[in-house]
Amino acid sequence: MSDAFTFRPIGLVRSPFSDTTQIPKGPGAEHQAEGVLVIRDDLVEGLADIDGFSHLYVIWVFDRVTEVRLTVTPPTDDRPHGVFATRAPVRPTPIGLTVLQLLRRDGPRLHVRGIDMLDGTPILDIKPYLSNVDPETLRRGWHTEAEARRAAGR
Ligand SMILES: C[S@@+](CC[C@H](N)C(=O)[O-])C[C@H]1O[C@@H](n2cnc3c(N)ncnc32)[C@H](O)[C@@H]1O
Repeated sequence: MSDAFTFRPIGLVRSPFSDTTQIPKGPGAEHQAEGVLVIRDDLVEGLADIDGFSHLYVIWVFDRVTEVRLTVTPPTDDRPHGVFATRAPVRPTPIGLTVLQLLRRDGPRLHVRGIDMLDGTPILDIKPYLSNVDPETLRRGWHTEAEARRAAGR
C-alpha cells in the first residue's frame, strides 16, 4: 500500500465565506449560498457536456484544518461519534465532499448553489451527481436518533 499521494487541484472555490463561523451549521442548517468553481484553463476541455447535469459531486480539500480527531461531537448532536460516521473536517485525510446545484457554466467557471466551503478552497475533482439510493433502503445512522431526541426536547 502506498504511504502518500500527491494531487494537484483542478481549480478553486470562490465562496462568500471567509471564516468558518459564517457557514450554516447544526440542526436544520440549509446550504443555499451561491459561489463559483473556477477550473484551471488547461482543464476546460474536461468540462464539455457538464451543463446537462443539475447537480455535481465536488471533492475538495479542508486546507485550513490543522488537527485530526478520531472522535467528534458534531453540531447536529450532543453525543460523540467516530469521525468516519460524521462529515467533520478534522479527518485523517482532510477531503470534503459536497453536492452542489449547477446553475450555469461560463467557460472555466461553474456557477453553483449550496456552497459550504471557504473562499479559496482547492478542488480535487468534480463528478456528475446521479442519486441512485432507494429511499426505502437509506439509513441515516445516529442522525435519526439525534433528531428524535431533539423533537422530544431531550
Ligand atoms: C461539516 S464540513 C462538511 C463538508 C462537506 N459537505 C463534506 O461533507 O465533506 C463543512 C465545514 O467545513 C469547514 N470548512 C469549509 N471549508 C474549509 C476549508 N477550506 N478548510 C477547513 N475547513 C473548512 C467549515 O467549518 C464548514 O462549515
